[in-house]
Amino acid sequence: MAKGLIVYASRTGQTKKIAELIAEGMRLSGMEAEVKSATDIKKAEDLLGYDAYAFGSATYHGEMMESMKQLLFLAEKADLSGKCGGAFGAFGWSGEGSERTYNTMKHVLNMNMAGDCLRLKSAALDGGIPMSQGYGKTMASKA
Ligand SMILES: Cc1cc2nc3c(=O)[nH]c(=O)nc-3n(C[C@H](O)[C@H](O)[C@H](O)COP(=O)(O)O)c2cc1C
Repeated sequence: MAKGLIVYASRTGQTKKIAELIAEGMRLSGMEAEVKSATDIKKAEDLLGYDAYAFGSATYHGEMMESMKQLLFLAEKADLSGKCGGAFGAFGWSGEGSERTYNTMKHVLNMNMAGDCLRLKSAALDGGIPMSQGYGKTMASKA
């Protein structure tokens, strides 16, 4: 069975909720999915053994969170090129966190991105639940 890893960087829990919904979408499509905080990934080897990777960060002060920056350095070491990727994050008005995570996955890690990045003000508002689950389903179809 294909397996997905969803890693989030979140301060107040919105990006974590999106991560859990993406995992649900993957599971509804018959994939296994694990959700982890970026702070739980300590070394490049922790990223090995998955078919699809969704990385998500909230935006603070126009940037992704520090734990996501460190995760992306570990992902570079792990060499995820060609793997199915997705990026997401909660934001208030500008959303650089998810956008820069997406661009790093695409242009530096050379991952095969499943679609655009998923940026939501809240997992629970404006159709956020089906959009997040749908993102997981799309990733599962391309993993
Ligand atoms: C001090 C502070 C700075 C923020 N800076 C930004 C920002 O530059 N751009 C933006 O889109 N949202 C910004 N936000 C909004 C957060 O991204 C938003 O609250 C998001 O839902 C937090 O996600 P989290 O619950 O996963 O931490 C900021 C929020 C705070 C409290």
